[in-house]
Amino acid sequence: MTECWDSSTFDAVSRDRRWLLPLLCAAGAACGGPFPQSSLRPRSDFAGAIDRLFTDIFWWAVLVFILVEGLLLFIIVRYRYREGAPTPKPTHGHTLLEIAWTLAPALILVFIAVPTMRTIFATQTDSPAGALRVEVVAHQWWWEYRYPELGVVTANELHLPAGRTVALALTSADVIHSFWAPGLGGKRDVIPGRTNRLVLRPDSVDTLLGQCAEFCGASHANMRLRVMVEAEPAFQAWVGRQQAGAASVAKGSLAEQGQQAFRRYGCVGCHTMGTMSTAIIGPNLTHLGSRMTIAGGLFPNDSVHLTRWIADPPAEKPGSIMPNMHVPAGDLAALIAYLRTMR
Ligand code: CUA
Repeated sequence: MTECWDSSTFDAVSRDRRWLLPLLCAAGAACGGPFPQSSLRPRSDFAGAIDRLFTDIFWWAVLVFILVEGLLLFIIVRYRYREGAPTPKPTHGHTLLEIAWTLAPALILVFIAVPTMRTIFATQTDSPAGALRVEVVAHQWWWEYRYPELGVVTANELHLPAGRTVALALTSADVIHSFWAPGLGGKRDVIPGRTNRLVLRPDSVDTLLGQCAEFCGASHANMRLRVMVEAEPAFQAWVGRQQAGAASVAKGSLAEQGQQAFRRYGCVGCHTMGTMSTAIIGPNLTHLGSRMTIAGGLFPNDSVHLTRWIADPPAEKPGSIMPNMHVPAGDLAALIAYLRTMR
């Protein structure tokens, strides 16, 4: 993610102009610069509708600001205290004025309310026939995505085809969470025992970042998500790879020892892994190797982070339900070799 306060920006602004930095950041955000979690850079019809509403209301607010501040400045200057000048005559009970300053704000509110209501209804539609259905299940602290028609189950990284309407059905396995990928549009509360819906059409190939947006416990801030919006062929290729069975491990390899360790240390009690186990407490790991991140999108999916993660999950992600299994270094290396094979 591009940091607003990166060193090049800092160096470019001379020492006596440092107070400008927050303003520059604000301007950068307003321009929707390279910020992967910006809601000012709409990447779906849903986000576009919200962006248009935001822009319209922003200009109404600018108009009101200029009128009110202009009037205020005019009155301050025009009626300021002057030596020897008579006191201005106060106005009482001016009916026309009172009607005007009651009607004007009411009218402004109508101009805000009508497009707002229209956008709310437009973004609450039922899923149209032919939409790609995805079930989103929030867990403390990771996201599960199931594609019921495709028979695919994955975690944290949501793959969507560009240009096709998708219908997300969101629910929670434990507490209240909130699904929010700003580039795709509005957040939706994810509530246990209830299914909320989000229907949208991603419009461009991109990787969007997101975040759980409802406090849900110790690692709420570590409950991240990614949305990979891909062109249809790339999406179909991904689906094909996910539909394939678990990769096979070579006889006598380190990965095979890892497979045995996976069983021995009870990993099978929580994780689905091909046909070996079907537990659903933790993420489905059948194709873990094909993901970019692990641990709720918190760390890159490489041997170093995977090792650190399995060695002591609660140390890496506070409150993690995955316990420290006290796997000795030798078995840990075998486990990593196995998991890296599972693409
Ligand atoms: Cu899940 Cu905050």
